Amino acid sequence: MTGDVKIIPLDTVDPALIEQLLDRAFEPERHKRTAYKVRKGMEWLPALSFAALDENDMLVGTIQCWPVALTAPDGRAHPMIMVGPVAVLPEEQMRGYGQALMATTLASLSADAPLPLVMIGDAEYYGRFWDFTNEYTSGWSLPGPWEPHRLLVRCDNPAVLPREGKLGPWRR
Ligand SMILES: CC(C)(COP(=O)(O)OP(=O)(O)OC[C@H]1O[C@@H](n2cnc3c(N)ncnc32)[C@H](O)[C@@H]1OP(=O)(O)O)[C@@H](O)C(=O)NCCC(=O)NCCS
Repeated sequence: MTGDVKIIPLDTVDPALIEQLLDRAFEPERHKRTAYKVRKGMEWLPALSFAALDENDMLVGTIQCWPVALTAPDGRAHPMIMVGPVAVLPEEQMRGYGQALMATTLASLSADAPLPLVMIGDAEYYGRFWDFTNEYTSGWSLPGPWEPHRLLVRCDNPAVLPREGKLGPWRR
C-alpha cells in the first residue's frame, strides 16, 4: 500500500480526465457493457464517488456510484446503489488504490439508511475485501449479457433482497 494515496471527491475532477482514465483502465468498447445499460440515463452520485491521486497529484483511479433499482415481479422497485466502475490505471494497480477508493465510498454511506450495493465484478476481489457476494443474485436479470457469478451484492440484511427482479435505472 502506498502511503501517499490521496482521495478527493470525484466532482472536483475534470470530467475529460475521468473519461481518459476509464478508457485506459477498460477496453474502448466499455460503453457497450451491460453495467452502462443498468444505469442508463442516471448521473453518478457525487457523495459516493471519488478519485485517487498519486504523490504528484496525478489522477490514478476513480470509483463511481449510481442510483439503480431492482424491480421485483410484483412491480415494486427496490432502490440500490450500483458501484462501478472501480478503475485504477494499469501501471498503478496492486498498490492499494482500489481498496482505498472502495473504503472511502463505504465510509461515506449512511449508516441510518443503508441501501444494498450491487456491482458487476470479480467476487475474488470484492468478496475478499468487502463481503460482496453472488449468493443472492442468481434470480436477478440485467438489460444485457452478464456472467452470473460476477453479479454481486453487499447488504447488511440479505433477507430484504428480492429473489427475483430486473436491475435497471432508478425511476421515481
Ligand atoms: C480491480 C482493480 C480496481 C483493483 O484495484 P488495485 O488498486 O489494482 O488493487 P489493490 O491494490 O487495492 O488490491 C490488491 C490486492 O487485490 C488483489 N486483486 C486485485 N485485482 C483483483 C481481481 N480482479 N481479482 C482478484 N483479486 C484481485 C491482488 O491480488 C492484491 O492482493 P494481495 O494484496 O493479496 O497481493 C484494478 O485492478 C482495476 O482497475 N482493474 C481494471 C478495471 C476493472 O476490472 N475494474 C473492476 C470492475 S468495475
